[in-house]
Amino acid sequence: MTIPAYKNPALPVAERIEDLLSRMTLEEKAGQLNQWYNLGPDQYEQVRSGEIGSGLLANSSTAGNNRQERVFAKGINEIQKIAVTESRLGIPLIFGRDVIHGYRTVAPIPLGMAATWSPELIEAANTIAAKEARADGIHWGFSPMLDIARDPRWGRVAEGFGEDPFLVGQLAAGAVRGFQGNDTDAIPQQFPADRIVACAKHFVGYSAAEGGRDYNTTEITLHTLHNIYLPPFKAAIQSGCATVMSAFHDIGGIPLSAHRYLLGDVLKEQWGFAGFIVSDWGAVGELINHGVAADDSHAAELACNAGVDMDMSTMVYLKNLPDLVRAGKVSEARLNDAVGRVLRIKFAVGLFENPYADPDASQAVHLLPESLATIRQLAANSMVLLKNNGVLPLSSDAITLCLSGPLADQRQALFGCWTPDGQEEEVTTLKEAIAGRLGPETRLHYCELTDDAIKLARASDVLILAIGESAGRSGEDNCTTTIELPAGQEALVEAARCMEIPIVVVVFGGRPLNLTRVTDWADAVLFAWHPGITGGLGVADILFGDVNPSGRLPITFPRSTGQIPLYYNHPPTGRPMVANSRRHSRYVDSLDSPLFPFGFGLSYTTFEYGNLRTSPASEVPEISVTVEVTNTGNRAGTTVAQCYVRDSVASVARPVRELKGFERVHLQAGETKTILFRLGPEALSYLDDNGNEVLEPGRFQVWVGGDSNAGLGTEFEITSDGSID
Ligand code: GLC
Repeated sequence: MTIPAYKNPALPVAERIEDLLSRMTLEEKAGQLNQWYNLGPDQYEQVRSGEIGSGLLANSSTAGNNRQERVFAKGINEIQKIAVTESRLGIPLIFGRDVIHGYRTVAPIPLGMAATWSPELIEAANTIAAKEARADGIHWGFSPMLDIARDPRWGRVAEGFGEDPFLVGQLAAGAVRGFQGNDTDAIPQQFPADRIVACAKHFVGYSAAEGGRDYNTTEITLHTLHNIYLPPFKAAIQSGCATVMSAFHDIGGIPLSAHRYLLGDVLKEQWGFAGFIVSDWGAVGELINHGVAADDSHAAELACNAGVDMDMSTMVYLKNLPDLVRAGKVSEARLNDAVGRVLRIKFAVGLFENPYADPDASQAVHLLPESLATIRQLAANSMVLLKNNGVLPLSSDAITLCLSGPLADQRQALFGCWTPDGQEEEVTTLKEAIAGRLGPETRLHYCELTDDAIKLARASDVLILAIGESAGRSGEDNCTTTIELPAGQEALVEAARCMEIPIVVVVFGGRPLNLTRVTDWADAVLFAWHPGITGGLGVADILFGDVNPSGRLPITFPRSTGQIPLYYNHPPTGRPMVANSRRHSRYVDSLDSPLFPFGFGLSYTTFEYGNLRTSPASEVPEISVTVEVTNTGNRAGTTVAQCYVRDSVASVARPVRELKGFERVHLQAGETKTILFRLGPEALSYLDDNGNEVLEPGRFQVWVGGDSNAGLGTEFEITSDGSID
């Protein structure tokens, strides 16, 4: 008996898709576009009838934290067996899950990972996450989240890579490569068997929510969309990201899941995106709440015609698309396009040939020592030293330490948001990490800062205070009206001052926090983000100098909530900021500058930049920028050389600075290296309202240094014939 073409792996995928589409009913096609969550016996009949094409393993399916109860592969195999052997066409389901920053080996939150400024480290972390998730039977991870973050009141700043389009785009490429294992800049024809499909989200501009309030409306001009919010998604698509998730919000009254221009014209037409778009949870049905759809049928029509291919968790597509096609409101060509996109990814994942997971695979893949070591290295490299008057690094011998503070012995807080597959008991707390590495002559007092404890603390050489945010204070639907520290923590630091011993403050958090006074009072401040399963160890590695801190801020730290939004790549305005002057965009009750600027971070050594030179390339409008970086301290260290550009005069006001290049540089004490940045048309252009690059002649400025305030700069000119001198 010959097998049907779509089941023949020897045939080209396009042929297999065409054959399968020719066999499918309208109902079966709509079923492929229907993603439902936490599939179980109640859904067996729908799976058998081909009404569900994808399963979403939502948080609630973790069934508590007992891993044994929750091995997904068993449940996935039960459902998959029904789909493959009992449905008419035997099309396997694709299973997705929020794999946001690690899976079982929980990595630092993405905002923390971004502070490494290392696409390679993020690729390594996502490689581990992909292999661990795939071993559990998961095929698809709903990340990287690429929302540009300019408002830290928004809880989801924790889930993204920060405020800068260039940095977020570079890190997105690393994240996609880690998940998908692709070594080309296209969607893999065949994903490696131990990798998962990536999903760039939330397309697009979700983070511009007014008031920093999740799900809120946004107002984003086409210019800002094309130059700030879209570039990271384009970088992800150019790295082969196979799926995109459309967002909840509206831009100027047009909800993203009904946004023809952005989903259709930009993402699919202009960028040639060949994967599929899944709506965010419920977003198709929510078009009714937005007031643009009269009912479910209208919502399905708007979303499908706009470009949403798969409907997450509403069944609106399943129930309405067949009739919409019969009524001519959605063309069968568009329905076939959507189904074809989904099938292409299912074929690429190898589901038709290998639909089942190995329930025992995870034991050999999860929590490997080398994975924990990689994530520990990443965690330490993510932490940002904000202040140090020399008290750090600590000696781990012949010293009496006092450790206190609400997060000193916390586990869940080190995980941060979106860690459904982490096991809390597997976290190493800061207290455990410090206790585990003290020398024989060292004593550690761990105490709450009550009266009698103060005597203990006073008798110590150094007080370490661990403060910051719990995991539940960041992530989705966890926005705050303020970026002040949680109640009582600032007072704790102030009280500690009376002990007249050095104070080292370690801050765990999922967003920039107002550390203005804490930074004044403490002798050292280390911002550790929510650093993941090995976070306590990473902090100890920094505190005792095993790792020289190299983290650099991927997001501006304001002095107060009132300064928000505050970001480095802002337009100059007609009244540029001039320190200590009036009549420019400022507040009378605050300094204009941020507490810590984008790109900032200290080291246990020092670095100097010098000998900045530019040299035009011969033919194309490209300029080479070279700079010498010297380690002027007495120990090896890594810094991040950052290259910023300004187009001084253009048809539209251009930002005062834009990051256009960066490089992590490791230098021995006294060593100097020359770093080269090549700035071509893409780096020197801006995008017009149609997304086209515009490179205009005129004067440009360029700076290179250790953060966005870099002072070492020069100028160059692009002449009218496009050459540079
Ligand atoms: C959530 C989030 C999205 C997540 C999805 C599935 O509401 O907005 O980031 O991937 O639903 O859980």
